[in-house]
Amino acid sequence: MFDPSMVPTPDPNPLPAPYWVFKLLLVVTFALHILAMNFMLGGALLALLARWRQKGSQFGTRIFYDVAKKVPVMMAATISLGIAPLLFVQVLYGQFFYTSSILVAWPWFLVLVLVVCAYYGFYFVSYQGQRRHQAVGRVMLFSTTLVLIIGFIYTNNLTLSQVPANWAQKYFSSTSGWGLNLAEPTLVPRYLHFMTAAVAVGGLYLVLIAWSKWKQDQQYARAIFQLGGKAFLYATMSQFVIGFWFLFSLPKALRMIFLGADSLATSLLCFGLVAALVSIFMMSAALKKDNIRLAALGVTSVTALDVLTMSTMRELLRMAYLKPYYNPQQFAVQTQWSPFLIFLVLFVAGVAFWFVMLKRYGLFSKTKAAQQ
Ligand code: HEM
Repeated sequence: MFDPSMVPTPDPNPLPAPYWVFKLLLVVTFALHILAMNFMLGGALLALLARWRQKGSQFGTRIFYDVAKKVPVMMAATISLGIAPLLFVQVLYGQFFYTSSILVAWPWFLVLVLVVCAYYGFYFVSYQGQRRHQAVGRVMLFSTTLVLIIGFIYTNNLTLSQVPANWAQKYFSSTSGWGLNLAEPTLVPRYLHFMTAAVAVGGLYLVLIAWSKWKQDQQYARAIFQLGGKAFLYATMSQFVIGFWFLFSLPKALRMIFLGADSLATSLLCFGLVAALVSIFMMSAALKKDNIRLAALGVTSVTALDVLTMSTMRELLRMAYLKPYYNPQQFAVQTQWSPFLIFLVLFVAGVAFWFVMLKRYGLFSKTKAAQQ
């Protein structure tokens, strides 16, 4: 029988802001991180699909290079927006997160190497001029595979951080630090849930790109819209299978928080499912009626809300997992408002700066032109 007192004690340093502030920031910054990751990974996968499906045709190659050019920027956003939740998760769950990171030490270290290699490959593809290297498709596929592996390592570490009762057995069965959390029943559905979401949101990214080009080059924009919109549709529809697989892979007591035992978690799940359904109907209508505005504005807003809802559910699930070992009252709080305000101002300015950069990239800048 596992003794909860074996879990390391939290850092005795007081929190510099109230607990709920960190919790809120963790959820919001995680949602931003995952959105950027989805743009990057989903964009890369769909660029590869465009190249593979329409090899040799004018649009397949054009879509590939158009999207591939934007992938390094989204990679940078993923990394920068990953640092914020990394800080908050260490503050709130350091004793769990550090322990699991030690247990999967080598794959965890490997993330840095994989990020650098993937980044290099993405840059290689995006900097191709008129004379394009033959291996461009293979390099893109290689980098995208590395990113898929990075996501898998994250899911391994984070699932392990939530089950302290499995740590000792895992450690004593092999002290090499190479072991992943492969025996975890939620691992595969959870990972697939994230990766399928990346394809859906990557599809939305393509819709936004199509929207920005709608007026100048409608035939080409329509091809991107069809590819992105359909990817969004099929990926979101398949989430109804993968999501329920994930839900039913959870231990019963934890699953029940979403099925009536906890009113907030249950309401969020219902809202998330309805939002997904609404986005499917909206996207399907938009594709049928060739209504780029409905897809770019309507579906994006509903999906952004859905990602925030699911990020909150993920946090509630973590709290349910850690309930026997975690007591937020344990934290001493000594609020330091001035550094916190500086952080907040810089954070908001940083996010605003990203929007300016995206605008310069051609997104969000042709609102009037896109009206039908
Ligand atoms: C570049 C490729 C990356 C991919 C594909 C990726 C993907 C993911 C995924 C799928 C998760 C959720 C795992 C789960 O809950 O099961 C996650 C969580 C997280 N990622 Fe990333 N990530 C990447 C890079 C990074 C980097 C470079 C950082 C840090 C600088 C980072 C910071 C985080 C943090 C802190 C969490 C957990 C937040 C929490 O538990 O609330 N990620 N990432």
